[in-house]
Amino acid sequence: KPGQRQRLVEAHTAASEFYAEALHSPEGQVARAFLLERAFDKDAAATFGCGYAPDSWDALTNHLHRKGFSAEELTVAGLSKPSRSGSLIDRFRRRLMWPIRDTSGSVIGFGARKLFEDDQGPKYLNTPETPLYKKSQVLYGIDLARREIAKQGRVVIVEGYTDVMACHLAGVPVAVATCGTAFGSDHISVLRRFLFDSDAFSGEIIFTFDGDEAGQRAARKAFGDEQKFASQTYVAITPDNMDPCDLRQQRGDAAVRDLVAGREPLIDFAMRSEIAKHDLDTVEGQVAATRAVAPMLAAIKDRALLQGYARRVAALIGVDLAPLRAAVKEAS
Ligand code: CTP
Ligand code: MN
Ligand code: MN
Ligand code: MN
Ligand code: MN
Repeated sequence: KPGQRQRLVEAHTAASEFYAEALHSPEGQVARAFLLERAFDKDAAATFGCGYAPDSWDALTNHLHRKGFSAEELTVAGLSKPSRSGSLIDRFRRRLMWPIRDTSGSVIGFGARKLFEDDQGPKYLNTPETPLYKKSQVLYGIDLARREIAKQGRVVIVEGYTDVMACHLAGVPVAVATCGTAFGSDHISVLRRFLFDSDAFSGEIIFTFDGDEAGQRAARKAFGDEQKFASQTYVAITPDNMDPCDLRQQRGDAAVRDLVAGREPLIDFAMRSEIAKHDLDTVEGQVAATRAVAPMLAAIKDRALLQGYARRVAALIGVDLAPLRAAVKEAS
């Protein structure tokens, strides 16, 4: 419908104002306490537009009705939903709210965290797919980060809302997060505008992961669909399974900056962690390591790149290039 997009953005903007106001009401105390415990002060909450969804079945729905939004608009927006009895109720209740904005700063959805352990539902709830909110394209924080991403020629991908906040406050203003979905090619398309120089991709995509296993999974995936960027992709593995928010809380801003500064090329990380699983003091271990990395190398389509990595990996394992090449060929 013409004008529908604009209406849905207006409803979201009004909703984010409503939630932000509730954060500072007596009822919002539990949400303010959560933020403070995570080392987010009042300014930080304001910068990111944090809010609180009240403990009510229809406070937001009624508020937006009074502002002239129809039941249909609120339903399509994903802000309200029909209850079992057929009346329209708020989608988010008793949760800490993060407005999610598109690249131009329009509010298009919300991320919502549970604040009461005994409440039902998942820890995080997000806006469902709507005409406005396409989760495969959403990057939380992109409105705040886009300028710095373009300027620094790099982006840091983190897991959650609190991690984006922590990075920005710690001096890493290029952080964004996917919202309840894996990073994929649609996200690359969004970043293309800020990160790509004409056609040539000239920046760094840095993934932070809490732990090696997730990092390895992502590494394998990156070798799959987004190969051409493999050589521009980096990983930053947080210590002790902390995420960037934990890291800032426990070790301070500098620890977050150091995490990003200490990034490692994805391909090095992937090969190194695969090789580390084997005992290279034995021939059996060397053979096993060679077999393990072969499929990764085989996935590299660029011949020159493959050559270079094969040489490096052979040296890491301590074997000649010839047996490694043979293994790669077999894995192709
Ligand atoms: N997430 C989600 N749905 C879930 C769990 C997680 O969409 N059921 C997404 C959210 O975007 C969230 C991010 O994954 O911000 C990080 O999740 P996780 O690492 O599990 O959160 P924690 O760091 O454990 O959560 P918190 O710091 O809020 O306690
Ligand atoms: Mn996690
Ligand atoms: Mn966390
Ligand atoms: Mn986390
Ligand atoms: Mn967790």
